[in-house]
Amino acid sequence: MQRVGGVVRPPGDKSISHRVLMLAALARGKSELSGLLTGADVKSSARVLRQLGAEISRIQESGVRVSGSRLLAPSSRLYCGNSGTTARLILGILAGQKFSAMVTGDASLRRRPMRRVTEPLREMGAVIKERGDGLPLTIRGGALRGLTYTSPVASAQVKSAILFAGLTGGVPVTIREPYRSRDHTERLFAHMGLGIHERGGAIVLEPTVGPSGLPAVNLSVPGDPSSAAFLIAAAVLAEDGELTIENVGVNPTRIGFLVVLERMGAQVERVNLRDEGGEPVADLLVRPAALKGTEVTAAEVPTLVDEVPVLAVLASRARGATVFREVGELRVKESNRLELVAANLRAVGAKAEARGNELHVEGGTQPPRGRVETALDHRLAMAFAVLGTLPGADVRLSEKRSVAISYPNFFRDLQRCFA
Ligand code: S3P
Repeated sequence: MQRVGGVVRPPGDKSISHRVLMLAALARGKSELSGLLTGADVKSSARVLRQLGAEISRIQESGVRVSGSRLLAPSSRLYCGNSGTTARLILGILAGQKFSAMVTGDASLRRRPMRRVTEPLREMGAVIKERGDGLPLTIRGGALRGLTYTSPVASAQVKSAILFAGLTGGVPVTIREPYRSRDHTERLFAHMGLGIHERGGAIVLEPTVGPSGLPAVNLSVPGDPSSAAFLIAAAVLAEDGELTIENVGVNPTRIGFLVVLERMGAQVERVNLRDEGGEPVADLLVRPAALKGTEVTAAEVPTLVDEVPVLAVLASRARGATVFREVGELRVKESNRLELVAANLRAVGAKAEARGNELHVEGGTQPPRGRVETALDHRLAMAFAVLGTLPGADVRLSEKRSVAISYPNFFRDLQRCFA
């Protein structure tokens, strides 16, 4: 009998960690941040910000001190590692700086599209030299003009790059997106009183930074719901018991996973609801459940975009079929997640198929057995590790170290759920 139990705490929210580090680096004075994610992606943001002149203490969960300043021209290229958020948001910040910088990343990041960000930034007046749609590229910022922009993709990275450009360039921006993407940048800007509001469904920044610059920020970063999703999934697939997951961000733009899971038949209770720096936070109680297939709609996708791999894993254990509509964006994540989720589900004996921009998964009851190719994608590694917790499973991952990108202690925490 696979029994789940105990109390776990997911690591700090990756999206919020990047953003608050960047804002603290831009602020005049000393900021104190606790609960930051210590994963490799956040370290990439810290490294790049240090190259631009910010003083940032070692990245640890207990606390990080940041002394912000006017940013300085870097003496070498800005290497963003595997982190799309670092690359795209830093481009927004660089658009507002009067110097030139070269931005690059690892092989996965260099394959990811950047025009979605460079096009609006160029419209604002940044001078960008790129070869094709990706990194490396060189950007020279400076005197920007305001922008009213309708984004063709619901992407928080695109939206945030433009907001950071408006903030650092001191110009107004208005952004519309097809569906609302995660709103952490908006919440942080509001928390710091930077002149952000909503008008007729659009996000409007009319930067109100005084002559003394951006205020320093003290923040406690909530746990990452995208990391918690793996633990929730493991608990739902267990046969007995109850898992408590403490300190999880429950921002409505991030918890589509919970909404879909409830539709599939699982109950995740939220207790101790509270506010942390403008973000809703709760503890979650999760019990095993029998799941049924569902349809994930296009409007839901931005609220669960990073959870599709683990939701697909759950769908492979549900009664009936599940379809994910309009998940084409998954092709341009850390890996081609759309094809790899389907191929890996098939590799362990499940039925799944990517058809155009849709993912179709058929539920089954056979123990999953086979080799999974993670393509060094942290979320694929974790999603399939969860599948490997089923009784009788034999799921072999091509590698495990990629989990360090967003959840360094993932395997320890997963084990704890069953201890
Ligand atoms: C993120 C936005 C999402 C998400 C990524 C983090 C962010 O990407 O997939 O893991 O922190 O803004 P897109 O903006 O490309 O959808």
